[in-house]
Amino acid sequence: MAKLDGKVALITGAAAGLGEGIATAYAKYGAKLCMVDLSKDVEKTAQKLRQEYGAEIITVIANVADKEQMKAAAAQTIEAFGALNVACCNAGVCRLAPFEEMPDEIRDFHIDVNIKGVWNTCQSVIPYMLKNGGGNIVIASSVTGDIVADAGEAAYAMTKAALVGLTKCLAVEYADRNIRVNCSQLGYARTPMVEKMAVESNPADPERAIMDIAKGVPMKRLAKPIEVGELFAFLGSDESSYLTGSQIVIDGGSTLPETMSIGTN
Ligand SMILES: NC(=O)c1ccc[n+]([C@@H]2O[C@H](COP(=O)([O-])OP(=O)(O)OC[C@H]3O[C@@H](n4cnc5c(N)ncnc54)[C@H](O)[C@@H]3O)[C@@H](O)[C@H]2O)c1
Repeated sequence: MAKLDGKVALITGAAAGLGEGIATAYAKYGAKLCMVDLSKDVEKTAQKLRQEYGAEIITVIANVADKEQMKAAAAQTIEAFGALNVACCNAGVCRLAPFEEMPDEIRDFHIDVNIKGVWNTCQSVIPYMLKNGGGNIVIASSVTGDIVADAGEAAYAMTKAALVGLTKCLAVEYADRNIRVNCSQLGYARTPMVEKMAVESNPADPERAIMDIAKGVPMKRLAKPIEVGELFAFLGSDESSYLTGSQIVIDGGSTLPETMSIGTN
């Protein structure tokens, strides 16, 4: 029996990038999926996973920033599968700009998608989880904001750090009702988001920006989306049954080095 057999998972931002990696791991381990995304490409991604893993999947085009749309997505999941056991709050956005030039609209865009989007998703799924006797929420925070940051990431870092607070509060609030809430703190994975950040950082040579990220990671590479998917699958499964309110760093060691000059290799 696979670790997510019989579980129904709603995954946001599932069309591409990490969301696709998460959906792939969940399909591989036997979950039924509701894949939510703004982009209609989510159906193409779902079709690939149905073919590859025989997974039962519905797709919903929705904006996580819109609570009514998220409530409808949760309701559609229940209608299709009769339960909603896991929510992977993955959808997120990142736009770089010098702090003093960052328009309020860009700040608010991060707040709407990265914070309110997770808030809306949690409020939409928790009532069904409570009815069901429990559930599991995995939130995509980041090492950015809570642990490290690069210039230009003020809005992004602020919102990702906020998700650690949300994770901890929901974990304690629902612990005695059998809903666990954990968050991932990823370093860098190669996804459309990071490819766009590389273009913004080095328009003349974005590949150099990606290579330079890898250089700073002790493991000398970025994460693959499926490696993040494996963490989400563990956190969404009963294998992690005593974990709640945890922030799990998954970064190839990128937050470890104390200096770039001291040491023996
Ligand atoms: N890639 C990284 O290195 C990295 C590192 C740390 C944390 N994260 C976090 O992981 C999550 C996924 O990142 P990614 O790199 O895969 O991003 P991405 O931009 O490559 O993919 C994001 C997906 O979410 C969808 N999406 C965006 N806004 C949405 C909205 N309002 N409603 C519904 N769907 C929406 C997009 O259409 C896309 O399919 C984000 O929350 C991001 O902050 C990523």
